[in-house]
Amino acid sequence: MYVLGIESSCDECAASIVKDGKTVLSNVIATQIELHKPWQGVVPEIASRLHTRWIRSVVEEALTEADIDKKDIDGIAVTNRPGLVGSLLVGLSFAKGLAWSLDVPFAGVDHIRAHLYAPHLENDIAYPYLGLLVSGGHSVIAVVKGFDDIQVLGTTIDDACGEAFDKIAKHYELGYPGGLAIDRLAQKGDPRAFRFPSPNLHKGDHQYDVSYSGLKTAVINQLDQFINPGYEPTKENIAASFQKRAVDILVKKVKKAVTDTGIKRVVAGGGVTANSYMRSSLAAIRDVECYYPSLEYCTDNAAMIAGIGYHYLKEGAVSGWDENARARVPSFKRGYP
Ligand code: KG4
Ligand code: ZN
Repeated sequence: MYVLGIESSCDECAASIVKDGKTVLSNVIATQIELHKPWQGVVPEIASRLHTRWIRSVVEEALTEADIDKKDIDGIAVTNRPGLVGSLLVGLSFAKGLAWSLDVPFAGVDHIRAHLYAPHLENDIAYPYLGLLVSGGHSVIAVVKGFDDIQVLGTTIDDACGEAFDKIAKHYELGYPGGLAIDRLAQKGDPRAFRFPSPNLHKGDHQYDVSYSGLKTAVINQLDQFINPGYEPTKENIAASFQKRAVDILVKKVKKAVTDTGIKRVVAGGGVTANSYMRSSLAAIRDVECYYPSLEYCTDNAAMIAGIGYHYLKEGAVSGWDENARARVPSFKRGYP
């Protein structure tokens, strides 16, 4: 079954052909990074207008690269939530029009669930597992029992992890996009330079939750208070110390979840899993099978959309013509082991 995936929830205009939810035949990503750089952040109006201009050629390129004709497509999967509504609408409307003209079904896909599906493109992963989703908008630790069965253990109570990377990078003019810039600078810095605070969330309902607003404030507004004697407040040292703290906060909770649930399989996805220290920290968790995507599938892409979409389409969970774009989605079901 050939599924065309379309992703336009933020600043990447992407299309992909995936066979049977697994074999990626093409993965085309037209990034708008350079066009948003002057603002050091994604400008929604510019993003949606660029998607409108680019989407047709991106889809055509995905078909050409996969060496198939549009008539060979068996179904279309498209991100319809969460994200920037104007941007989502471009992909969704294009998907509907194409589905109508080809007389094939289409499925609206949740971007967050798709990020967690990304490692499945490259690995055969058994359920259940502990899912760690870390992106610009989400930081979630969950028990995942099926591609659509996610029970959240913990989440951020304020800022997302990626958001903290982006805001700190913007404040100190470290580069754009922020996460990658900090990752690069951190390689030349010393993580022992600053002793940044860790959130105090250990008990009851919050035992798996994380927080990034306190850490972000400490790095941006209270830098002098946290420097260790003998170190310079260089950009490299700020980046290395912040990155270590930001990643350790999540990895500590993942380790706790492994111990508490007895689930010894961890699957990570989302833009922040591109982070080199995050990847090495996850890989170093002892006695745990750990999966994270190749770099091209960490950040926004349409292969993960086509991949998870295959399962929806196969199960007949198709969308109707009244399917809409949604900026936010209701929180995942919460529960404890
Ligand atoms: O998954 P994604 O592309 O988009 C969302 O769904 O949000 O994630 C984007 C986030 C941004 O906050 C970006 O700064 C972060 O992922 N990111 C990174 C790295 N690459 C991207 N954060 C840390 N280190 C990286 N190498
Ligand atoms: Zn994303």
